[in-house]
Parts: sequence; structure tokens; C-alpha cells
Amino acid sequence: MRGAVISKVVLGAALAVGLGVSEEMEAVHAPAVKLDVPKARPMSAEMTKALNAQLKAELESAYIYLGMAKWFDEQNLSGFAHWFRIQSEEEMTHFKKVYDFMQDRGVQVVLPSLEAPNSDFDSIVDVFLDGLKREQELTVQIHEIYSLAQDLREYDAGSFVLWFLQEQVEEENLFLSYIDHLIRIGGHDADPAAILWMDRELGNRAPEQG
Ligand SMILES: [Fe+2]
Ligand SMILES: [Fe+2]
Repeated sequence: MRGAVISKVVLGAALAVGLGVSEEMEAVHAPAVKLDVPKARPMSAEMTKALNAQLKAELESAYIYLGMAKWFDEQNLSGFAHWFRIQSEEEMTHFKKVYDFMQDRGVQVVLPSLEAPNSDFDSIVDVFLDGLKREQELTVQIHEIYSLAQDLREYDAGSFVLWFLQEQVEEENLFLSYIDHLIRIGGHDADPAAILWMDRELGNRAPEQG
């Protein structure tokens, strides 16, 4: 095994000389030059903790919506199930946004362990009410991060979460509008034909671009 490795190196060197790249090879093996690279401004422990909490919340949301999609699949309402799977995927993109920002800022990411989400509901209205509650809780959490960023003068983190604040307005409105539809068709005692119509509507949801 070791012999095979050596012969590969010798062969590689011979090929390199043949191709006239021996100087580059020498440069690769030269001792590293010591550079005094300035360190990036560190993020506070408080903000690091807050961003890790948001990272966890976005991942939890993805899992929660997957639990809801599962319930709809079990009710044979594939349109509703599709809508919640897309919702879950969107939360995964939010998770990735937070993850990328933390990596770019050199912040220690803590990947959380998650509890299994609820996938047992009494009615369609209950699912949407739970979804709305989830979004409202996350809105409060993101407002707190923004406020913390102002207090600590960590404006990069503050500007980062602004996108999420706007997103939360859309998310809450989305749930509110479907709750409104459900109330109009009878709430907990909704007309089955109207539910089937809504199922077809929700089945058309396309993944968000960008
Ligand atoms: Fe989100
Ligand atoms: Fe959301």
C-alpha cells in the first residue's frame, strides 16, 4: 500500500518535470510564510446565542410543518399536504440563511437536537391556528434579535434580521388569509365540497424563488 503511494508520487513528480511545472511544485512544498492577518471583529456572546436560537427555531418550524403535512397526507388531502411540505422547505431555506450568515461572520454554529413534532390534530382549522401561533412566536423572537442588535451596536446582525422581519409579515398574513377562508366555509364544520376545492387550490402552491 505504502509502496503504491510512493510510486504515485514519483510518477507525479516525473510527469510534473515533463510538463515543466517543477518550480510550482517546489513552491507548494516551501515553508509557509507567516502573515499577521488581522482578526475580524468578534460577535458578542449574547448575539451568538440569539442567532443560534433563531437557527434552531427555523429548523423546528421546518419540522413542525412536516408534521402537519404528514397529518394531511393521512387525511387524504394531498393538496394541503403539498402546501405544508413547501412551507417546510421554505423554513429550511431560512435555516440555511441564518447558518450562512453565522459562518460568514465566523460565529460558532450549534446544531440543535429537535423533538418530534405534533402530527395529530383535531381539525384543519386547528392546524392553521397552530401554524399562525408558531409564526407569531417567531416574529417576537426576531424582533428581540433586532432590538438586541441595536442595543449592542451589532448593526450587521440587525440588518441581517430585517429580511426576516418582512418575511414574518408575509407568513402571518398567509396563515390569517387561510384561516379566514376556513371560517367562511364553516370553520370546524366546514362544507366537505369546499374543503376539496381548497385542497385543489393549495395543491398548486409553487416553491418560492430566491
Ligand atoms: Fe422562517
Ligand atoms: Fe415561517
